[in-house]
Amino acid sequence: SKLSPALKTSVSGARTFAASAAEGGGRKVAVLGAAGGIGQSLSMLMKMNSMVDEVSLYDIAGTPGVAADISHINTTAIAKGYMGDEQLHDALSGCDLVIIPAGVPRKPGMTRDDLFKINAGIVAGLVKACAKACPNALINMISNPVNSTVPIAAEVLKKEGVYDKKKLLGVTTLDVVRAKTFYAAKAGVQVEKVDVPVIGGHAGITILPLFSQATPSAPLSDEDIDALTIRTQNGGTEVVEAKDGKGSATLSMAYAGAMMGDACLQGLAGKKDIVECSYVESPVVPGIPYFATKVVLGPEGVAEIREIGRMTDYEQSWFEKMQPELKASIDKGVAFVNETM
Ligand code: NAI
Repeated sequence: SKLSPALKTSVSGARTFAASAAEGGGRKVAVLGAAGGIGQSLSMLMKMNSMVDEVSLYDIAGTPGVAADISHINTTAIAKGYMGDEQLHDALSGCDLVIIPAGVPRKPGMTRDDLFKINAGIVAGLVKACAKACPNALINMISNPVNSTVPIAAEVLKKEGVYDKKKLLGVTTLDVVRAKTFYAAKAGVQVEKVDVPVIGGHAGITILPLFSQATPSAPLSDEDIDALTIRTQNGGTEVVEAKDGKGSATLSMAYAGAMMGDACLQGLAGKKDIVECSYVESPVVPGIPYFATKVVLGPEGVAEIREIGRMTDYEQSWFEKMQPELKASIDKGVAFVNETM
């Protein structure tokens, strides 16, 4: 989808006044992990969104500086820094949307699942705090492995008695952003006009772009589709290798996270036809309780989960192949919470 008018006007710098409540303004958004590679740019982009009144920048270190820096940007939203456990509750209270890019990123040779040991505990702790401080907020989960951190978050929220499957969304937007970029270049079409659904999860072969459903359609060869599919699945690794030990995607992820956050805020504001792919609790694939397809965003969060639609035999074979891995990642997340909390 396109940037909302709210984000566009903010980005152009033309906007001086907050969007009225009727336009969907007045929101409080928290970024947890705000001093990190993703968190800094993402916090800035949320400060530039005119639906937002207040951005809470939370991290275990570094947020006073990042918040001071961002607070000088002449857009309406107020940016405040919060640091350390004792300030987490204040950072979260009253939030409409909590975006979580906290945790360690990959280094060359690592899979997203290698991050599980460290990030599972971080995510569980942060989500528990959300359950207490802002139980009605939407949560956008960026921390990897998303295939497991979303089930972890759900189990923690269940234990706290506040789980609402409509309000927990795994962020797979970067896979969509990549699929659109790679497809547009190969098909020779204008990238802004491209739509490509990406289904499944957010790790390696669980990422499945459905180029057969891409619009505008283009007559690509089977070899081209195969190359595009594999490049989308490995997009994260491409960046990890290029950064050579200095982390994973941060700038494109901040952009994608801001797109997803903006879509959630538009949905909350009651705007129609706000559709993004997201990894959510889903009935679409029997036996796989969490799955990404297109979802419609509304005033309560996820308003509707779309079906996968028609797949080619090629796509179907990836779809079959991903399921055991996705299921294992989900089970691992659920087991983590049951065994440790
Ligand atoms: P980073 O290391 O630059 O930043 C992470 C931040 O989290 C640091 O500032 C750190 O202090 C903070 N943090 C650690 N423990 C925390 C806690 N308990 N509470 C609050 N903050 C805490 O890492 P980067 O590059 O920003 O990546 C963050 C996460 O996002 C990683 O898990 C990475 O794998 C994931 N990611 C997800 C993508 C997606 O498409 N969903 C794409 C790219 C990265």
